[in-house]
Amino acid sequence: MARIALVTGGSRGIGAAISKALKAQGCDVAATYAGNDAAAAQFTEETGIKTYKWNVASYEESKAGIAQVEADLGPIDIVVANAGITRDAPFHKMTPEQWSQVIDTNLTGVFNTVHPVWPGMRERKFGRVIVISSINGQKGQFAQVNYAATKAGDLGIVKSLAQEGARAGITANAVCPGYIATEMVMAVPEKVRESIIGQIPAGRLGEPEEIARCVAFLASDDAGFINGSTISANGAQFFV
Ligand code: CAA
Repeated sequence: MARIALVTGGSRGIGAAISKALKAQGCDVAATYAGNDAAAAQFTEETGIKTYKWNVASYEESKAGIAQVEADLGPIDIVVANAGITRDAPFHKMTPEQWSQVIDTNLTGVFNTVHPVWPGMRERKFGRVIVISSINGQKGQFAQVNYAATKAGDLGIVKSLAQEGARAGITANAVCPGYIATEMVMAVPEKVRESIIGQIPAGRLGEPEEIARCVAFLASDDAGFINGSTISANGAQFFV
């Protein structure tokens, strides 16, 4: 039977590539999005992947949304917590709102996404949790105290979940993308982006599909003994 997969932020950028890769691997996929109705509609039209709109920062919305996905597709086997935002500013200019928005979406959003599916995975003795962290959670980044804190937090989440889920057949792993050619990276001022590319030994940005292939492998039945790990895909920009 096809595995059921949920991908948050799954209709654009890295998330869209992950949704498509999981579908290509035979999964029934549900992709969530926060606000861009037009992009979600176009994504569904192009891929046949169903999209659901909710705010991952809200536990109640996440719980209700996940219940709807499970009513439509069946119990979720694979959850990819990918939804994330940036609110970059040097620390001396960062506002409490910029801090909270990023923490609520990127970090609490992971809790809100995984917590409702966890009991079902434990009962069925199978689960794949994949959290999309970032190179900037590993190395820190100028103007990203908020974002780096959430992405470092992701690594603590998967290492802890891995220990809790191991005997129940659930794995939890993180993927740390480097700088990938998405709208998020394209929003960085061009001069800054060029200087970042200069720091990537591969000499280029990564492609969303290069992250999606890591996720598809971690989501597969074959990856059952990989648990609590972090896969870095960053063109040799940073080693842990
Ligand atoms: N390292 C050291 N200094 C830096 C720097 C860096 N990486 N980036 C900027 N600065 C310096 C500038 O040279 C400037 O110095 P001076 O004042 O001496 O000229 C100063 O910091 C910038 O100060 P400003 O007051 O002008 O900054 P600002 O309030 O206008 O903010 C910024 C600008 C938000 C920092 C902007 O430069 C920016 O967006 N930088 C990119 C941050 C970044 O890399 N974000 C990653 C986004 S992609 C992502 O997050 C995906 C992923 O997971 C990889």
